Amino acid sequence: MGLKFQRLLLVSIVQLLVVAGEFFKPFNVSYDGRAMIIDGKRRMLISGGIHYPRATPEMWPDLISKSKEGGVDIIETYVFWNGHEPVREQYVFEGRYDIVKFVKQVGASGLYLFLRIGPYVCAEWNFGGFPVWLRDVPGIEFRTDNAPFKEEMERFVKKIVDLMREESLFSWQGGPIIMLQIENEYGNIESSYGSEGKDYMRWAAKMAVGLGAGVPWVMCKQVDAPDNIIDTCNGYYCDGFKPNSNNKPIIWTEEWDGWYTCWGDRVPHRPAQDIAFAVARFYQRGGSFQNYYMYFGGTNFGRSAGGPNYITSYDYDAPLDEYGLLRQPKWGHLKDLHAAIKLCEPALVAVRTPKYIKLGSKQEAHVYQDKGQKCSAFLANIDEHNSAIVRFQKQAYTLPPWSVSILPDCKNVAFNTAKIGVQTSIKTVGVDSTAYPNDPLPLKLMAPYEVEYISKTWEIFKEPIGVWSASNFTYQGILEHLNVTKDKSDYLWYTTRIYVSNEDIQFWEENHLSPVLTIDSVRDLVYIFVNGQFTGSARGEWINVTQPVDLNEGYNDILLLSQTVGLQNYGAFLEKDGAGFRGQIKLSGFKNGDLVITESKWTYQVGLKGEYLKIYAIDEKRTVEWSELPPDVTATRFSWYKTYFDVPGGADPIAIDLSSLGKGQVWVNGHHIGRYWTLYAPKDGCQTCDYRGAYDSNKCLTNCGEPTQSWYHIPRSWVQASNNLLIIFEETEKTPFEISIKAHYTETICGKVSEDHSPPLHAWSLPETINGTVLLNHMAPELYLHCDAGNTISSIKFASYGTPQGSCQNFSRGDCHAPNSYAVLSQACLGRQNCWINISNDAFGGDPCHGVVKTLSVEMKCSPSSSLM
Ligand code: GAL
Repeated sequence: MGLKFQRLLLVSIVQLLVVAGEFFKPFNVSYDGRAMIIDGKRRMLISGGIHYPRATPEMWPDLISKSKEGGVDIIETYVFWNGHEPVREQYVFEGRYDIVKFVKQVGASGLYLFLRIGPYVCAEWNFGGFPVWLRDVPGIEFRTDNAPFKEEMERFVKKIVDLMREESLFSWQGGPIIMLQIENEYGNIESSYGSEGKDYMRWAAKMAVGLGAGVPWVMCKQVDAPDNIIDTCNGYYCDGFKPNSNNKPIIWTEEWDGWYTCWGDRVPHRPAQDIAFAVARFYQRGGSFQNYYMYFGGTNFGRSAGGPNYITSYDYDAPLDEYGLLRQPKWGHLKDLHAAIKLCEPALVAVRTPKYIKLGSKQEAHVYQDKGQKCSAFLANIDEHNSAIVRFQKQAYTLPPWSVSILPDCKNVAFNTAKIGVQTSIKTVGVDSTAYPNDPLPLKLMAPYEVEYISKTWEIFKEPIGVWSASNFTYQGILEHLNVTKDKSDYLWYTTRIYVSNEDIQFWEENHLSPVLTIDSVRDLVYIFVNGQFTGSARGEWINVTQPVDLNEGYNDILLLSQTVGLQNYGAFLEKDGAGFRGQIKLSGFKNGDLVITESKWTYQVGLKGEYLKIYAIDEKRTVEWSELPPDVTATRFSWYKTYFDVPGGADPIAIDLSSLGKGQVWVNGHHIGRYWTLYAPKDGCQTCDYRGAYDSNKCLTNCGEPTQSWYHIPRSWVQASNNLLIIFEETEKTPFEISIKAHYTETICGKVSEDHSPPLHAWSLPETINGTVLLNHMAPELYLHCDAGNTISSIKFASYGTPQGSCQNFSRGDCHAPNSYAVLSQACLGRQNCWINISNDAFGGDPCHGVVKTLSVEMKCSPSSSLM
């Protein structure tokens, strides 16, 4: 059966189930002090975050099935208020905002759903999810005991709960929803609102529970959550967390398995070994429900990115990358971890408090033993530097530094968090995460000879500098940016006119001075033009701007283009944040002192002419004078560029490289891909990454000296094979001739597994292992290698069974090498999408060096299947 056909079949089965409506036999969800109780059974649960609007509906089934394959039981998502209600009481539940469809797809795949309604969500999402019109509700103050706010919040939360109930999506209706969240990390800011904060929190809890959803509610980071709401933990580590009552289970709502990125910053990564360590420690110490924030991060399409200054990619270094491909070794290592935890589930749910055994100064065991029946244990070494040999139940175990060994039967190690037994994948586009402890981060792979520019023929439309329509208005003084734009556009022109006398000109000439424009405080970005000429720019969060300017005798036009780059999404008093200018704007250096222009007459123009005309739309009716763009053009600021392009064949996701441009926005076939900005990260600070020791987002960084983001995801479902309309709005003088497009797929795969690695996890399900451990002890570890769907292993770059040295893309032979290494690998893998290799002397025709622990290291290439012909 062809792959395409298989996919189609799967999609139609899922669609059929979705139409049928009921996904499970109706079941109840409750909890006790140990765990969630699903349909009468305590469960150890793994959840994965996927925000539906950060992908397309066409991507959802694949993301959900890859989550399931990765050992996830639950999909978690926030609900995005400003996406669903962009205009008050005009709801959108379509396309990327078709939440009902998303929830149904999750149910159809047999997974549960955890819905975090908020409706404040933070999430690096524009304005934390609040619709911008909410600022204009008279008398409103967000997230406090304020009647107008509470009314709006209740209306939206009720709308969502009712919608889910009408669609029969709660567990007791046979739907997948097992848990809900109200608010988000309110505990972080509660004290800013004094006693009203607490009143609001209590109100929110009562309001939520009063909606009769019939499943438990949580509040994250809310130590004072009321009795009927579970307070939960968010963070890089949550072992040791205790909810505020013994009757509530230990839940980790956000396991930060990566981090978000700002324009101009280095890109954070979190090593798989450390995530596995954190998760294993959580279950070791009594945790029962853990959610990866994010399992798939995706893309901030359009203007949905939050602020200040969050980039368009929300990749998050998650187990599924921005494009939905497996990020290896992260995805696979966590899959193995989940399988190991699931092997322990019977013992974990049977025991309320594990037995604690101190094994050494920094080593400890937690044993879950149910009256001698079932027994599972976790052995931890929290020493960041040294490995340790510990004795547990009369056996010796070696624990690498900063690691946990999981023993589902209290004897055999099924998994150690520091020992990766799965492949590393390096993609054609972007940067992948860390491979092995102490390995340098893999570099960005982008062979120059492979570059194919998207087009040679382009058209241009010049965006006017300054006021462009009759829809402008004049006001005496400076208005706050968002009050004027209502966030309909990033851009707002402030223009005014000043008079310069001949005496001032003479004064400057005689004293070799030039006048200086100062703005007390600016966010997020301002471009300064004088008499139509670009003069300077500044960016930051409420920064002071000082700009020398050239003025002529007579009237001079001062044009300030204020820009937002994603609205603030975190903190108290968000409604007061605003953007644009604060304080005074003045010109200094005049003969008679400063010229304060804050209170002058300013003319305001919201947005760009091209935006207003929707010249990016595919069915754009209004006439725009496009003209041909000569290849040798000397471009000026603010141009719209247009071309048509074809996409690489096959099903691999695609990405466009915009690093040859400056800053702007991009549309494909009328779909808003997002903002782009070629801001370079600092040159230093990307040192070798070590998984050992407590993680923070500054620890493992890439992209030093590189643009923070070069590649932008174009979802497959937004393009056809050829003739796709590409529209770019570029703010700098850069031209579009060097834009390239590429399929995103795993190009290089590597594996490195030693003989002393634990046997494969599937061995635990063999019948022989139920009563004994004999077989397990004799099962060889194995290496599983795979290319993305539609790709096959096309060549072997390196293969050595023996004592190979180095790491991915840098392997070399050691003293010991089985001569048939290459032949064994070729036979097993070439031309296939997947292959398995046993790590044993038998598999390699005998022992190449007696008495030495052997390792298999391999590096292979994957290529789209068709290109093998
Ligand atoms: C949390 C917040 C999330 C997200 C995360 C950082 O504090 O609850 O919504 O913003 O930080 O990615």
